[in-house]
Amino acid sequence: KTIDDLGDLRGKRVLVRSDFNVPLDGTTITDDGRIRAALPTLKKLTDAGAKVIVTAHLGRPKGEPDAKYSLAPVAARLGELLGVPVHLAQDVVGDSARETVAALGEGEVALLENIRFDARETSKDDAERQSLAHDLAQLADVFVSDGFGVVHRKQASVYDVAQVLPAAVGELVLKEVDSLRKATEDPARPYAVVLGGSKVSDKLGVIANLLTKADRLLIGGGMVFTFLAAKGYGVGKSLLEEDQIDTVKGYLADAEKNGVEIVLPTDIVVADAFAADSPHEVVAADAIPADKIGLDIGPESAQLFASKIVDAKTVVWNGPAGVFEFEAFSGGTRAVAQALVDATANGAFTIVGGGDSAAAVRILGFDEAGFSHISTGGGASLEFLEGKDLPGISVLEG
Ligand code: 3PG
Repeated sequence: KTIDDLGDLRGKRVLVRSDFNVPLDGTTITDDGRIRAALPTLKKLTDAGAKVIVTAHLGRPKGEPDAKYSLAPVAARLGELLGVPVHLAQDVVGDSARETVAALGEGEVALLENIRFDARETSKDDAERQSLAHDLAQLADVFVSDGFGVVHRKQASVYDVAQVLPAAVGELVLKEVDSLRKATEDPARPYAVVLGGSKVSDKLGVIANLLTKADRLLIGGGMVFTFLAAKGYGVGKSLLEEDQIDTVKGYLADAEKNGVEIVLPTDIVVADAFAADSPHEVVAADAIPADKIGLDIGPESAQLFASKIVDAKTVVWNGPAGVFEFEAFSGGTRAVAQALVDATANGAFTIVGGGDSAAAVRILGFDEAGFSHISTGGGASLEFLEGKDLPGISVLEG
């Protein structure tokens, strides 16, 4: 069911689950991509004259109110972007939430305070989650699931409430699922996947799955050092997950068996320390000095990666190639982003997935229009690529 299937929404109370888990510096939102991605659904609902009640989480508070995790900055930014005031309730489903909802007019928007201030949201106990879902359901007539970044969580506001209220899928979740399905179910080939980010252990399931699907797997970011170690190279003081070396050796063997090309960097930008202004140099990937830390793929690798991306017909990128937040170590990530832009221009279908790479694209100043799709999902898009069941999606499919 989509929003259009919910019938006339004028005057109806519509509960929307969004993912507003945005990066904050104090109370300043450093990347509002997730808020902007929620606008099509919210505008559609306000235009239809609905009374819109948004629920969302921010960070991982411990099941009780914690000012540090208040959605106040989000309410302010959302109001600016929507061009209407967003009324922030001071609690999740208490008196303030009820009063805020009761005062809503047609086309107006309320935001409930951080849903994770209520311990029932993330409870493993079905009955506890369902009791919160019932409390949420008291506030609304229908439910729209639009927090793609959180659909991999079996939580009250994502999963259980969809079983209590008439439920529909929002515009963002529709777009995300369409795009990710296009890339994963029957990808135009060559199909190249670029993986980065800090930990191999976060990406085990994805890598195993991609070894049966992708044509090329390009590895960068902090996780690359475990791959280099698996090849017998020294990695100095770089990030290394020693307990994953054997697993990675298995991946390298499987890749060869399945005819999947694994592309590893041939050079690395190493530094004295993890710092923006650390002295740095480029060394061969098999010659990282013992006292140095690798913080980016080198320029030769950046070219190699670009050459494997630009002629692909489907490209999925998850995880930065280096510490892009520091200018000196942003070259690899920049090159990967540019290669995706070039591939898109060549007619490829390109997806940027994962909170960090999506933020990298925006922070490094790339035009979002240069990519076919920028996913708002971090863990959710990884689990999608892994082929896992996503509770927030399957509950809507009935
Ligand atoms: C995310 O940032 O990936 C989502 O908002 C989910 O957050 P969580 O990992 O804390 O559940």
